[in-house]
Amino acid sequence: MAKYEPQDRFYRKAREKGLPSRAAFKIEELLHRLRLARGARVLDLGCAPGGWLAILGRAVGPEGRVVGVDIVACREFPPPVVTLVGDIRDETLPARLIEALGGQADLVTSDIAPKLTGIAERDEAQVAELVEAALQAARRTLKRGGAMIVKVFMARGFKEILSRFEAAFGNVEVTRARATRPGSSELYVIARDFRG
Ligand SMILES: C[S@@+](CC[C@H](N)C(=O)[O-])C[C@H]1O[C@@H](n2cnc3c(N)ncnc32)[C@H](O)[C@@H]1O
Repeated sequence: MAKYEPQDRFYRKAREKGLPSRAAFKIEELLHRLRLARGARVLDLGCAPGGWLAILGRAVGPEGRVVGVDIVACREFPPPVVTLVGDIRDETLPARLIEALGGQADLVTSDIAPKLTGIAERDEAQVAELVEAALQAARRTLKRGGAMIVKVFMARGFKEILSRFEAAFGNVEVTRARATRPGSSELYVIARDFRG
């Protein structure tokens, strides 16, 4: 397994640029594959501390809208970014999100991760539950033809999770981001053409 280097190139780059975390580089790279339009509506699930929001806000420009939601409060951003506190497992949340977005989303992103306990079985179950909740939130907020970028982990149940995305979207690919820590099992699903 690769050596864990908490202060690698991307960590230092984030510090130099004043970004909250290395996560910003991951979404920058993943967005390149989607060609997100200026003026788009984007929903960011599990947005704190806000690395993705900064990049997404820049990508959609002043005509767009980015709504971030997290179970913990995230710092405030200038328009077009707004943040809400909420649990993505809450069934009443999608209506609040659509209202804050001003319509259905063109893109839903999810970098959600649970607090890990170190007990593999419990952690895997929690990750699976949150990925499923993110997909469910996307089903209820995305417009037909929309896209989703979601963090997943290569663990037990991965194939099953993937098949759920394949049922909801016309085109699904799995990729790894260059800024991901060496040795991490973290992957990203890029799903396009939401079937609605
Ligand atoms: C890796 S961090 C996200 C980093 C973020 N993308 C960034 O660029 O700064 C994962 C986030 O998921 C959030 N989270 C975990 N469970 C959640 C839930 N049930 N609902 C909403 N957010 C949740 C955590 O609070 C945490 O802030």
